[in-house]
Amino acid sequence: MSHDPASSEWAASRGEKWLASIVGTEAMLAPIDQPLLHALQLTEPCTIADIGCGGGATTLEMLRAAPPGSTAYGFDISPALIDFARQRQPNIAFHVADVAKTPPPQLYDRLTSRFGIMFFDDPRAAFANLARWLKPGGRFAFATWDYPAANPWIKDVGRIASQFVELPPLDPAAPGPFRYAEASVLLTLLELSGFADLNVTNWQGPLAIGGGLAPAEAATFALGAFSSFNELLTAAGEPVYHQAHQSLNAHFAQKRQNGIVQLDASVHIFTGSL
Ligand SMILES: C[S@@+](CC[C@H](N)C(=O)[O-])C[C@H]1O[C@@H](n2cnc3c(N)ncnc32)[C@H](O)[C@@H]1O
Repeated sequence: MSHDPASSEWAASRGEKWLASIVGTEAMLAPIDQPLLHALQLTEPCTIADIGCGGGATTLEMLRAAPPGSTAYGFDISPALIDFARQRQPNIAFHVADVAKTPPPQLYDRLTSRFGIMFFDDPRAAFANLARWLKPGGRFAFATWDYPAANPWIKDVGRIASQFVELPPLDPAAPGPFRYAEASVLLTLLELSGFADLNVTNWQGPLAIGGGLAPAEAATFALGAFSSFNELLTAAGEPVYHQAHQSLNAHFAQKRQNGIVQLDASVHIFTGSL
């Protein structure tokens, strides 16, 4: 499992890994839906496409918040995640699609994505394709992660894991969660793709690890669900995993509030229209 998953990995092993931790991960990421919703400006009945929708939690949240008469659709490259989304929310149309290449099934009033647009093999082509999905006058809102330094929820886990195993270096140009930490990179891509009225704001707040877990469970969750820490530590042997877990547990114990572990996060919210 690479440190920086590309779309092709999401279609297979990475999608299945996301699915294995989906309940805790979605609960942890739920606070990001509010700034996305605010940025989407769902003021009238509209059609919404959720790009890289995963298990569809954000798709459902958008539909709940949209005015009556609105419809929402979810698109993801992972068949396993789309199966899960369909079973959980049979009233929403979910489709397996590589949104980087697939022509739009119809035109949408709104495009949204919670962390689903950072993994394209060819971002220039992918965003040019996505521009074809939006109706003229339509609006998009995409969430991406700020730099790791501004995201202790992952930076702290990586720092502790790196005391026990060697982590692959982050390549900011490669597909991965921090690819658009430098917001100007995505703004340039979006502009080149024909999107207009571009803007980026920042959301900062705490995220409850695994949706609200005590330190030991949060350490298990973080090592298992984030990046490839679990694979690297397990390959190094059970004693190494155990030491890393203990160390993370001790760190998380200092971050406990009201019995659960919460760490700060920082997210870019990109908006624009066509
Ligand atoms: C970090 S997960 C976020 C999932 C979901 N939006 C959420 O917040 O729960 C990234 C998602 O993007 C999807 N993805 C990556 N590349 C894609 C592509 N080219 N086309 C469609 N989906 C893609 C992955 O399969 C994965 O579900």
